[in-house]
Amino acid sequence: MDAPQSNVLLIEEIPASEHEDMGTVALITMNRPDKLNALNADVMTSLKAMVAWVEATDRVRVVVLTGAQPNEPPEGKRAKPNAFVAGADITEFVGKKSDDIRVMFANNAVEALWNLSKPTIAMVDGFALGGGCEVACSCDLRIASKRSRFGTPEINLGLIPGYGATQRLVRLIGYGKTMEMIMTGEMISAEDASRIGLVNHVCSSEELREYTLDMARLIASKSSNTLRVGKQTIRAALDVGLTEGVAVEAEAFASLFDSKDKEIGVHAFLNRETPKWEHK
Ligand code: COA
Repeated sequence: MDAPQSNVLLIEEIPASEHEDMGTVALITMNRPDKLNALNADVMTSLKAMVAWVEATDRVRVVVLTGAQPNEPPEGKRAKPNAFVAGADITEFVGKKSDDIRVMFANNAVEALWNLSKPTIAMVDGFALGGGCEVACSCDLRIASKRSRFGTPEINLGLIPGYGATQRLVRLIGYGKTMEMIMTGEMISAEDASRIGLVNHVCSSEELREYTLDMARLIASKSSNTLRVGKQTIRAALDVGLTEGVAVEAEAFASLFDSKDKEIGVHAFLNRETPKWEHK
């Protein structure tokens, strides 16, 4: 399957290691910098196509999702600010009614991203607002530059979040902080986002790309089958009660004892070797 082509979503494959057979990290850039990478219908369609391509493409091990940097401003104009994504494209809300939104949101791109079986990292440099914060929350990890700002300002539009923040934020940062973010619509700094668990790591803008790619490469060096089972199992914690979740984990743990990669990993440890996974 060829990588989907789109002007609003750029796909770059970066080798996951110097060994060719270790696959790639797919660096996905949402590319509407003049509109702070706001999510319009084109971006959403492209995101869904990208998810399908990543799922079908074995060599892609990890996804890093980011926003395009601002363009040089025209003479005499101020530069646009840096953004991951400043939300859903508000111009597309004009004239829309509930039935239009129900159609748009059935089987939407953010859910597709959330349901991707491979590890995903949001690399945030700038505003991550509304749908942008939700796209970031639909990734497994979030790494942000110090100048990043997170928020769910939908309340200021007479709306609430629609791409999962009321549910996923509660699970990430808890009820009280979610209520504060959604009820006030105020932005928080990357440091505060890190303190409350919304962001995994904060670094300088200059370090962000390498820091994130190092993390992606580290994850890509593990067995892709074990990562997939791990992600699926951790997800159970969000949906089921403790007793059922522990049973899900026990079964997943047991099932891995029939995998070649468990044999390879244990053998490599005992022989002080680096494991060469069957599922690269
Ligand atoms: N949808 C559509 N366009 C958006 C947008 C969005 N969510 N966010 C920013 N833009 C556009 C602006 O309209 C502007 O376009 P223009 O230059 O053609 O007029 C451009 O992006 C730059 O934004 P601007 O508002 O001029 O930058 P700023 O530095 O003054 O403010 C923000 C930055 C992020 C504070 C401000 O853009 C903002 O509040 N955006 C909306 C955030 C939001 O409510 N998101 C939730 C949507 S559900």
